[in-house]
Order: sequence, then structure tokens, then C-alpha cells
Amino acid sequence: MALPSRVKIVEVSPRDGLQNEKEFVSTDIKVELVNRLAAAGFPNVEAASFVSPKWVPQMADGADVMARIERRPGTIYSVLTPNMKGFEGALAAGADEIVIFGAASEAFSQKNINCSIAESIARFEPVVQAARAAGIRVRGSISCALGCPYQGDVPIEAVVDVAQRYLAMQVDEIDVADTIGVGTPQRVRDVMAAVTRVVDPARVSGHFHDTYGQALANILASLETGISIFHTSVAGLGGCPYAKGATGNVATEDVLYMLRGLDIDTGVDFDAVVDIGQWMSANLNRKGSSRAGNAIAAKRAA
Ligand code: HMG
Ligand code: MG
Repeated sequence: MALPSRVKIVEVSPRDGLQNEKEFVSTDIKVELVNRLAAAGFPNVEAASFVSPKWVPQMADGADVMARIERRPGTIYSVLTPNMKGFEGALAAGADEIVIFGAASEAFSQKNINCSIAESIARFEPVVQAARAAGIRVRGSISCALGCPYQGDVPIEAVVDVAQRYLAMQVDEIDVADTIGVGTPQRVRDVMAAVTRVVDPARVSGHFHDTYGQALANILASLETGISIFHTSVAGLGGCPYAKGATGNVATEDVLYMLRGLDIDTGVDFDAVVDIGQWMSANLNRKGSSRAGNAIAAKRAA
């Protein structure tokens, strides 16, 4: 299959990137991160979570972040909402898109959102209905689509089953998420092929953590199966607090570098993203994990 000529990158570092940071990252820095990413041209920035602050303390200031960011016209600012309480926060905050997040693994569903897959779907239904009534876009994330930290292998049918339940709720976009970065390209092709048999590929996104160094290869495999939306995190920040040992999402700089080489347009200013990655890593007092970002920064300094 011919590769797409344009790809939508959803920048998830303000949420997935920061949620696992042990030290509280100030609201000022979170706001600046979101603003700089939007200014760099990302069409969609995952800005915050409206989850229990006891479960994920780092995301406790989501309402403040949303209140203080500059809204660029045309940019979609997304937030995570596990239940109606989260949705009410998202609505009050003026989120453009909400993300419901379920899993293809029962064990992970229990650990991450404290309920079974079936219970999570029942919880999401009123959330999606309320979002649709309010004209808010909805994305449905499927965690552990390529493997689970508790259960191990996850059958492809379990991924397709959650996708079909989301479709029945009329979500706008469905994320196939490799929460712990264990997937390899052939499995990714198989999962994406199965999901896109029931969901229009234009509405499916790939969310790859890079724990095992497979994320770029998995993105290429996804592109080859017709997927054109990917989630990335500047400087490779991130991880899920309920997936121990899992590292961050694939680094935005690395993905942009690869896509540029493939002549695929993203509308994003690569140099600005390298700057953001270096700035954010300095804020966190460590070197970021983007290979391309660090290489460009070293070349600039030489
Ligand atoms: P629970 O304890 O079963 O919920 O948690 P509950 O309804 O019994 O409520 C317990 C307390 O939480 C109550 O407060 C509620 O008010 C409060 P208390 O009376 O004890 O003071 N509460 C909330 N507070 C703020 N916002 C809310 C909210 N809901 C309840 N929305 C719950 C269930 C889902 C809330 C909890 O498990 C939770 O917040 N989990 C969040 C987990 C999370 O954020 N994980 C990381 C994001 S997912 C991810 O990273 C994966 C992804 O990147 C894709 C991938 O890589 O796979 C998306
Ligand atoms: Mg994630």
C-alpha cells in the first residue's frame, strides 16, 4: 500500500509524557509546554487528564492548565476522562476532545481504572453521549493492544472487540495503544489489519511506547497498513503509572525526522520541536531520549 502523503501527529507529552513524573511539574511549565507545542504546528495536543488526583497526582492541575493555555484557532486540545466526573471537568474546561481509555486486557483495566472492561464500557457510554450532545469530539483509546504487563499476550480479537464497542458508541477516533512498547512490526500489521477491517483506517491512530525500541518500526508498519495518525511525545517523555517499567511514547523528534525522510507532511516545525525537547529536558534535569533531537542539538552546539 502507498504511504500517506500527510500524517496527523497528536502530541501527548503534556499528558502521557508528564503523568509519570515523580516530582510535580509546575502548572507554569505545563502551560508553556502546551503553548509551545501548539505554536510549533501540532494540530492536536493532549493537554491534561481529568482523573482522580489520588491515582495520578501529577495531573491534579488539569483544570488550571486548561484555563491558562492560549487557544490557537484550529488546534484541538484533548483531555482524558475516565468517567462522568472527568467529563464534567472537561466540559467546564472547554476541552475540544475527550479521551475515554479502556483496555484490551482485563488485568490492566482493573489496575488502571479499577473496573472490568465491560464495566468501563458501561461507564464510558454516558460520557460519550454527553460529549456528543455538547459537540465535543471523542477519542477511544485501547490500552495493551500489543501486550499487557500483567497478562502477557493479548488476543487480537480482544482489541477488535473493544474497537467495535467504541464504534457502537460513535467515537470519532480509535487509538491502538502499545502501552508497554512490546509490539513488533508483524504483530502491529496484524492488529492494525484486524482493526481496520471494522474501523475506517482514517479514524485509527497508533500510540506506541518505545520501551523495547520498536516504536519507529511499528509506525512504519502502521503507515504501510494505511494508518495516518500517530501519538508522540517530545524528548520521548512518559509512561503509564500503572504499567511499571514502561518508558515513554516514541519521541516526537524521531518520528518527525523519519516522516520528513519519507516525504510525508505533518505541518509541524521540526526545529521548534527540537528546541522544545531540549527546553523540557532541561526543566526535568535530564537528557531527553530522542535520538534525533539530541543529535541535532549536539550538531548545533558543535
Ligand atoms: P475509583 O477509586 O474506582 O473511583 O477510581 P470512584 O468513582 O470510587 O472514586 C473514588 C474517588 O476518586 C472519589 O473521591 C471521587 O470523587 C474521585 P473521594 O470521595 O475518595 O475523595 N474521582 C475523581 N476525581 C477527579 N476526577 C475524576 C474522578 N473520578 C473519581 N474523574 C478512576 C476510578 C477511574 C477515577 C481511577 O482509577 C483513576 O482516576 N484512574 C486514572 C488512571 C490514569 O489516569 N492512568 C493513566 C492514563 S491511561 C494511559 O496512560 C494509557 C494511554 O496512554 C494509552 C496507552 O498507552 O495504553 C491512554
Ligand atoms: Mg500511553
